[in-house]
Amino acid sequence: MTTAPVYVLRDATPADALAIAALHVASWRVAYRGILPDDYLDGSAAAAEADARWVENFRTVGRDDILMVADGDAGLLGLIAVWAGREAGFDTYIDNLHVRPHLRGQRIGARLLGEATRRMIAAGHRTTCLWLLDGNDQGGHFYRRIGGSFEDHQTGEMGGHPIGETRVVWRDLPGLAKACDDS
Ligand SMILES: CC(C)(COP(=O)(O)OP(=O)(O)OC[C@H]1O[C@@H](n2cnc3c(N)ncnc32)[C@H](O)[C@@H]1OP(=O)(O)O)[C@@H](O)C(=O)NCCC(=O)NCCS
Repeated sequence: MTTAPVYVLRDATPADALAIAALHVASWRVAYRGILPDDYLDGSAAAAEADARWVENFRTVGRDDILMVADGDAGLLGLIAVWAGREAGFDTYIDNLHVRPHLRGQRIGARLLGEATRRMIAAGHRTTCLWLLDGNDQGGHFYRRIGGSFEDHQTGEMGGHPIGETRVVWRDLPGLAKACDDS
């Protein structure tokens, strides 16, 4: 019998940076398999990119930004990063939402996003969006189920690799918070 993971949601701190980066790259390696080249995902470049990204995230985080983790007895289970005022036309931008691969499907992602959304609402924000990589069907299923609107498509890049991505938008944050709670 599998037991539900025990964890708390809390603000991330600079001391978490490298543990978050390790979780982030572990999730990339599963979620983006077949989407990005294996040699990039498995090599040191992806890990170095994640380390650098999270050191930079903690260097630049502002009062209205949200960096949160799901923290369990055995370490970090999930992470979310939400930036305010960085995406033209939207109040906030969800940069990362990742759950440890073997714990997906247990609502950790929905709880992280629900709590982050309540914080966005409390800060007076009304809209948010994220970019979903082409081929990330499981992520797409998750966002569709919680009311995301799939809008613009563009070619972005990750680790120097061009990759198509679709903007997923929410213009009703209370509705998003409720959808996360109900999911
Ligand atoms: C997308 C993600 C953050 C959602 O978090 P989560 O905790 O798995 O979310 P939930 O438990 O609410 O489950 C959502 C969906 O997960 C899927 N799911 C369920 N069990 C699963 C499993 N064992 N493995 C993978 N996906 C599973 C289902 O599609 C489920 O939707 P359903 O209940 O309608 O079938 C998480 O799955 C994840 O980290 N995915 C990889 C990284 C990623 O794609 N991040 C988003 C980038 S934009």
